[in-house]
Amino acid sequence: MPINWFPGHMHATARAIKERMAAGLDVVVELLDARLPGSSCNPLLASLTAGRPSLKVLNKQDLADPAQTAAWLDCYNAQPDTRALPLDAGERSPARLITRACRELAPCRGELHKPLRVLICGIPNVGKSTLINTLAGKRAAKTGDEPGITKTEQKIVLEPGFYLFDTPGMLWPRIAVAQSGYHLAASGAIGRNAFDEAEVALELVAVLARRYPERLRQRYGLAELGGPGGEEAVLEAIGLKRGAKVRGGAVQMHKAAEALLMDFRQGLLGRITLETPEEMAGWRRAAAEDEARQAAAREAARQADKARRSGRRRDDAADAGDAGT
Ligand code: G4P
Repeated sequence: MPINWFPGHMHATARAIKERMAAGLDVVVELLDARLPGSSCNPLLASLTAGRPSLKVLNKQDLADPAQTAAWLDCYNAQPDTRALPLDAGERSPARLITRACRELAPCRGELHKPLRVLICGIPNVGKSTLINTLAGKRAAKTGDEPGITKTEQKIVLEPGFYLFDTPGMLWPRIAVAQSGYHLAASGAIGRNAFDEAEVALELVAVLARRYPERLRQRYGLAELGGPGGEEAVLEAIGLKRGAKVRGGAVQMHKAAEALLMDFRQGLLGRITLETPEEMAGWRRAAAEDEARQAAAREAARQADKARRSGRRRDDAADAGDAGT
């Protein structure tokens, strides 16, 4: 069953972003999870900041497949007014990478009298706090002091003439396709109560068996992955290896799922990326086609209903005419 997660409204976040747009914004930095660079991207941010150049930071690149990170960087770099770079939020000097890319995106800004104003956003768990803590370092992190700007906006002066703003509120993920829901859940970006861990783990097994079968075999000492029982049999075998048995020998599937998800999140299965740019484009296309089909069916039903009602009105009028004669 697809994951539907609507944890809260984003009015406060949207308002804070609009206020920052009105007060002055030159570049938007969107932090993404490099293991799911499509699913962790929220299109709402792009629509709220339309017209501003964008820097996509593929964070946690130390956990992602380097070849796929390169493919996603190419994909984002090919978009207009967009740059992309890979990052580990905790690495020693992320500030330089980010400031350099932002300066390239807005070359006319960055002087003391014309500061470069950058907004940083990201869905939960992409590493925004870690990055901001690393960036802020000894630099004073101030609250907003501009008119019309919420007092909880944080402003970090990264360099003279370079301001990084962190808006309050949450940029929740947007689950546009079912696969994104599973990938977000596997990564830890979605609240635990919103999904069934076994279901997400089974999806993860399917991706791993398709793309990284050796990692699965090696980590859990599995002989074969494509046997009868499919993903469930693999998850059961993982549970057996990880001691997820109850008395009597049956495997507790939720324990097996927890073990697999934990291993994935901690990078113990190696560097893994769950989705490719081509897959993501295909899923989005299919979702858009599905949406268009549903809209067309709704419209056809509405027209049929309208025709039925106007036919009934005509019959009633004819009956009234007959009765009058
Ligand atoms: P958020 O503000 O966007 O919600 O995310 P946050 O910085 O809290 O980071 C979420 C988790 O991701 C943290 O781990 C953090 O250490 C880890 N993390 C952030 N950036 C990177 C990165 O570039 N590479 C790797 N490997 N991990 C990263 P945690 O286990 O939830 O917390 P903690 O035990 O590290 O404090």
